[in-house]
Amino acid sequence: MQITSFKQYEEDYKKSVENPEQFWGEVAQNFQWRKPWFKVLSWNFNEPNIKWFEGAKLNITENCLDRHLATNGDKPAIIWEPNNPEEESVTYTYKMLHERVCRFANVLKRNGAKKGDRICIYMPMVPELAIAVLACARIGAVHSVIFGGFSAKSIADRINDSQCKVVITADGSYRGNKQIPLKDVIDDALIGCPTVEKCIVLTHIRTPVSMLKGRDVWWEDEVKHVNDTCEAEEMDAEDMLFILYTSGSTGKPKGVVHTCGGYMVYAGYTFSNVFNYKPGEVYFCTADIGWITGHSYIVYGPLSQGATSVLFEGIPTYPTPSRFWDIIEKHKVNTLYTAPTAIRSLMSYGDEPLNGKDLSSIRVLGSVGEPINEEAWHWFDEKIGHGKAPIVDTWWQTETGGIMISPIATVTPTKPSFATLPLPGIQPILVDENGNEIEGNGVMGNLCIKFPWPGMLRTTYGDHERCKQTYFSTYENLYFTGDGCLRDEDGYYRITGRVDDVLNVSGHRIGTAEVENAINMHAGVVESAVVGYPHDVKGQGIYAFVIYPEMHGEAELSKKDILQTVTRVIGAIAKPDKILFVSGLPKTRSGKIMRRILRKIAEGDTTNLGDTSTLLDPGVVEEIIAATKTL
Ligand code: PRX
Repeated sequence: MQITSFKQYEEDYKKSVENPEQFWGEVAQNFQWRKPWFKVLSWNFNEPNIKWFEGAKLNITENCLDRHLATNGDKPAIIWEPNNPEEESVTYTYKMLHERVCRFANVLKRNGAKKGDRICIYMPMVPELAIAVLACARIGAVHSVIFGGFSAKSIADRINDSQCKVVITADGSYRGNKQIPLKDVIDDALIGCPTVEKCIVLTHIRTPVSMLKGRDVWWEDEVKHVNDTCEAEEMDAEDMLFILYTSGSTGKPKGVVHTCGGYMVYAGYTFSNVFNYKPGEVYFCTADIGWITGHSYIVYGPLSQGATSVLFEGIPTYPTPSRFWDIIEKHKVNTLYTAPTAIRSLMSYGDEPLNGKDLSSIRVLGSVGEPINEEAWHWFDEKIGHGKAPIVDTWWQTETGGIMISPIATVTPTKPSFATLPLPGIQPILVDENGNEIEGNGVMGNLCIKFPWPGMLRTTYGDHERCKQTYFSTYENLYFTGDGCLRDEDGYYRITGRVDDVLNVSGHRIGTAEVENAINMHAGVVESAVVGYPHDVKGQGIYAFVIYPEMHGEAELSKKDILQTVTRVIGAIAKPDKILFVSGLPKTRSGKIMRRILRKIAEGDTTNLGDTSTLLDPGVVEEIIAATKTL
């Protein structure tokens, strides 16, 4: 199923459009099914109702583990690189990983989990996180991984939304020289989570934790009580595999639902092709398993292809900004898949951290999560790839399950800051505000997809109508991505950023409404408006305009109070970079905030604010501009 030439890409693409069922049916033959499908695809974007590989039975862990045992059992599946470089790295072969997954799957069963139950995972980047994810899949339980940076309240909201029965966590995690008390956060969350019956706690940093009798059990103790044989649960292709919460333009995160069969095929196919993965190579994706990139391109994609992948616990700058380069040298990494934020941050340290580092093993580079600016692209290309490693700028989303528009390493061309061409099976179109297709090249529009692909979301958990409204109702018969896009003269796609009220901060998706809700929860805040502004390292920064008439003490302290509130309500990742206290917000007569004006002010461009005459109080704009000078 690996594409080896541009000609083959063109042929496969053509076939995937003309005969999608045949195309995906053939791709799916490369996976292990217990029972074949009777229909490759049935779909309807209006409801939406999308089914891939209907009737087929499988278990994704048999594809990620069991099927490699006979031939590749002793091959490394995961190489774990700890936060502290002084600590030894740990290698798990496919055989070892299989054994651990089966054992932990039995622990889950022992603690009452069964097929269809939802299980929340809140863990550091340790091998046990991948093991927990796979163990859920093994028994047919639905995992909902929550990124370690979210607050107790965010966790509780997510646990309650999907009514999780079990939580898997650790005492704490390391992040550079900091320790984060994960179990404490979970304890706070669980006060308001009546559905949770059991909490399984891994010892990692060995910090004191409270263990509640009847609810909390230690991972290390539990695994002693079970054996390592666990028959995989037979799943329907359309059974739920996982839920992953993501932010949208409304205040409440949505639980994006992916199913077993289509997701597996899509994650595996795209991993193998986009990175041109060759057996025996070492692949390193720096994402966290708490995000979709980690789900698809640390866990399911690479393991389904029998790959060797590095799982890194730490951060790029600890103990020094050479850390990535040290890891590449140490493990002879062939593919590095990372985010523009990390690239820009490392670029800012100059060449010194690269001195004496042997990066000659690098063959393919990848970027994901946000638009990559040309400067960062060229730095990545020259300093890390030495001009020899193709950069795959991969555009996709939590909802798409896998990479959609991207170069195919060594096969299709790259172009700085362009995601370039759609992968086979992906039919992008650009539309104007009214949903009319914008044809031809050298055009810009809103990016939609007009035909289903196996990795697409099926619903949003517990609220199908929301899925329909968010993705399938803006334009008839199209999946709307929320992104703006340019198609250049060569027909190459360049994603220009979100066109809705969603920010992309360091590659993390954050809804402005969510941040506003959090700020508004601060006692005394009357109203707020949040917009993005260009940020050298983060891509976008968060700029909050806040009405706080009777401030409690000094302004600087009040800002910190607000940051603390946002950290409590959402998590540190959503903290505004700038807070400006204002006495009013620019609103239309109907009471709608004119964000366009605030965005311009946040960008520092106050020369052409457009027509402000429709504002309820045009004077407020002058006042805000004057206030920005005090920041
Ligand atoms: O705006 C696009 C941006 O990230 C959004 C998806 O965010 P999330 O669901 O968190 O998934 C991130 C990892 C897949 C998209 O709507 N985005 C993602 N990749 C790119 C990108 N923007 C530009 N170029 C990319 N390569």
